[in-house]
Amino acid sequence: MESYYEILGGEEAIQKLVDAFYPRVYADPDLSPLFEGDMNEIKRKQKMFLTQFLGGPDLYTQEFGHPAMRYRHLSFEITPTRAEAWLRCMKEAMDEAELEGEVREYFYEKLTQIAHFFVNKTE
Ligand code: HEM
Repeated sequence: MESYYEILGGEEAIQKLVDAFYPRVYADPDLSPLFEGDMNEIKRKQKMFLTQFLGGPDLYTQEFGHPAMRYRHLSFEITPTRAEAWLRCMKEAMDEAELEGEVREYFYEKLTQIAHFFVNKTE
């Protein structure tokens, strides 16, 4: 059975997605104060993570160990506004990368749940 990763378009699709996503994140007034590191490095990590998240090779775990993503986000103040901004950037990036169909809907739905779960501060 094909994984969601393959159905979405594999490596090329995820690369397009992170390439469309991070310039938006770095330009967003609510998110940009948190993103001070090298954009290429965060793109690289996110690409590995999302590949694995969608059922592709477990690239993130091979390099960094257990994702424990909520834990890795605890050092950042994630407010509901920031979660919404992150999701808005992701939706626009999915449009730009031309991700379509039911798998896109499923993927976005999952990311919405996770983004809300990462909220660790009220406004
Ligand atoms: C809810 C809003 C979110 C905010 C404000 C946020 C913010 C951040 C920040 C500031 C970093 C560190 C960037 C750096 O190292 O330069 C980061 C890393 C990361 N985020 Fe998020 N994030 C959010 C949601 C998510 C979601 C929903 C996912 C995926 C399900 C995700 C996946 C990642 C990954 C894979 C990394 C790299 C972790 C590492 O350093 O190994 N983030 N995020």
